[in-house]
Amino acid sequence: MERYHADVIIVGSGLAALVAADQLGDDKNVIIITKSAWQSSNSFLAQGGIAATYSDEDDWRSHLEDALRAGHDHNDEHATECLVKGSRKTIQGLIDRGMVFDLDVAGEVRLAREGGHRRHRILHAGGDATGKALALHVKGYLEGRVTIHENTQAMDLLVENGHCSGLWARNENSEPVLYQAHQTIVATGGIGHVYEPSSNHPNVTGDGLAMAYRAGASLADMEFVQFHPTLLVKNNQSFGLVSEAVRGEGAVLINQDGERMMKGVHPQEDLAPRDIVARTLFEAKTSGRAEALFLDITKVSDFEVRFPTITRLCLQANVDLAEGRVPVSPGAHFSMGGIVTDLYGRTNITGLYACGEAACTGVHGANRIASHSLLEAITFAVNMAEQILADQKPLFKTDLPEPVLTNKQLILPEREVLQQIMFQHVGIIRNDASLRNALNWLQEQTDGNEALTHLYLSKREMETLNMLTVSQLIATSALERMESRGGHYRTDCPNEEAAWYKKRIIRERVRVEQ
Ligand code: SIN
Repeated sequence: MERYHADVIIVGSGLAALVAADQLGDDKNVIIITKSAWQSSNSFLAQGGIAATYSDEDDWRSHLEDALRAGHDHNDEHATECLVKGSRKTIQGLIDRGMVFDLDVAGEVRLAREGGHRRHRILHAGGDATGKALALHVKGYLEGRVTIHENTQAMDLLVENGHCSGLWARNENSEPVLYQAHQTIVATGGIGHVYEPSSNHPNVTGDGLAMAYRAGASLADMEFVQFHPTLLVKNNQSFGLVSEAVRGEGAVLINQDGERMMKGVHPQEDLAPRDIVARTLFEAKTSGRAEALFLDITKVSDFEVRFPTITRLCLQANVDLAEGRVPVSPGAHFSMGGIVTDLYGRTNITGLYACGEAACTGVHGANRIASHSLLEAITFAVNMAEQILADQKPLFKTDLPEPVLTNKQLILPEREVLQQIMFQHVGIIRNDASLRNALNWLQEQTDGNEALTHLYLSKREMETLNMLTVSQLIATSALERMESRGGHYRTDCPNEEAAWYKKRIIRERVRVEQ
């Protein structure tokens, strides 16, 4: 069997993974493993930008207030303060190493506005290709320093006595591979594809979260799923995201008759926090107030220049921008929950770290404010790397047995059915009955599917199994939380409840050691 030893194994290849690899690459032997091509990540798709208290007229306190308000005060305030306070330095560090953000006519960094922010504080690159520009930039730092194993799927972590010493994976020929490491980092992103429609890359099937859960890591806040108000959806087909930055440049949400959807709903109207806009649109559709939803882009100047990525998506969807309307609908976007970590990426398992969307530092509360995901990825990956460099090296476990390949028959559901059930019953609007329906169905799909190792599963089967696991975590947490807050809205308890203030639902499974 193929075996690799490294100081640090990083699972995933989005921005958090790349930044961590860069920070560690000079001192450590680092291997990144990723289940397809390294570019196939949510980071690569991120459009709008990266928020920072960058302008001299801005103030980190006002930035923090906006983030806490958008997060419905469920945020870990200390973590959010660290993120926001350090944002200018984070950006300056990138610029100093050659990252080019879009500039205004005066040659200054051009700052955009997005949902929940009262000020212009979003830096962007390539118009609406910020994530791609950042990922390519940071990947450039890694050349010759870090090994990347593409088409390698992480299956199960090696955990014994509360300590992680690597993982089992499968290579591109579906053969088992053993990766032993002093430290293992999960940076696999969130859970976006358990829902359809979704803005996420199809790779985002909750793998890292499910794998960490199986190994005994604590997960939290899984009920808080963010739905983005504006996916480009035509004839029930989703073509990708239409950035909130489009509304920041003056677009407004309308129905088929041109009625403004956000007027009178919230003081920030079309730039209200995302949970409020997505729920308003969803309710308008289900109540019949809107048969169809559009972004009216007639007030946006130079649309094609400012938003080249979205222009391309419109071309693919056969949407004529000259008509001034882009058909949109809400869809799954981001998980506020994830693997519980401290501000240094440490989980409850020694040797196991998490960062990026896979981690839950509490920084996003119940609803992430716009453009804090790329900022989170960089900030906490840097902190985590510093911690790893300081942490004592745990020892490899040297006497690992060969994996047991139990050839057990699995009957898994069609992925599309799972996604529909999650969207309808555990989606933007939930209640006790819908959640119980979903949970009963999920339970039926998983009964008898417990296995000692998963190495005999196909890539798609493993992903579906992971999707089932994280779906159950979302649905059970949503059922337990008897209130509505941010990305978790229940018609049977529609208010924020003092009894739930700052309460975090933790999911932790009894460890299965391998
Ligand atoms: C967007 O561009 O609207 C998405 C940015 C984000 O997820 O914060």
